[in-house]
Amino acid sequence: MPALSTASAVCPGSHSARILHCISLNGVNGTGKRVGDYGIGAGLLGQLLCTEYSVAHYFGIDIASRQLEATAARLDRIPKCNHTLVLQTSKMDFGAFRLDVFISQQVIQHFPSSKYLDDWLAAIQSARIPLVFLEIRYAQPARFSEWVHDKSVTSRIARDSRRDGVKYSKPARQVKFATLVSCEYLLQRIPAYRLDDQWETIKGSASDSVFHACSFILT
Ligand SMILES: C[S@@+](CC[C@H](N)C(=O)[O-])C[C@H]1O[C@@H](n2cnc3c(N)ncnc32)[C@H](O)[C@@H]1O
Repeated sequence: MPALSTASAVCPGSHSARILHCISLNGVNGTGKRVGDYGIGAGLLGQLLCTEYSVAHYFGIDIASRQLEATAARLDRIPKCNHTLVLQTSKMDFGAFRLDVFISQQVIQHFPSSKYLDDWLAAIQSARIPLVFLEIRYAQPARFSEWVHDKSVTSRIARDSRRDGVKYSKPARQVKFATLVSCEYLLQRIPAYRLDDQWETIKGSASDSVFHACSFILT
């Protein structure tokens, strides 16, 4: 079983495996960890965490019940995959899960407003989760103002989705993105943390398709 190891500048692997392969868990082995995954898609990260990292418990949270159903179907087939799947409601309280690690890959760009992002980050901070990994659509300076309809981004996501076997209910070209932030932008909103590392995960041809991962440690 690979240890969840220190980040590298190179992030190979499929979309779902990318964070795990590159993540800066600084040598912390996944065994025995309670790992939260916010915005789970079809549960591919949960599958990896259970099969390759032997986490103690996987908590998958999503706003869409169809994603929870798809993930349940996937994880229920895996022996000894302790998991809890939670439908995100208006109240964001992550403290009850007593998480060791919190991961969110490519979800923030779907948030409806900067206020929503601020509240979400406040909930993470208040839960005092030791390690937090967020993958973001990157822009410097950070902005959160416009919907982005970028064909080069959405068509590549469609390819990524097929490769990972993720089925979206809408064609990928209808995906909308609003959030473009930086790790520093996030850090300003979670002052109990320090930025441990940041690295590029995807770089497309268009500037709007740059993704960064940010790892934060509770101080
Ligand atoms: C692009 S997919 C990413 C899925 C997965 N994290 C991955 O990397 O493969 C975005 C996911 O975030 C979920 N999502 C979007 N907005 C959300 C919100 N406000 N709260 C929770 N989940 C959300 C969607 O339902 C979808 O499952």
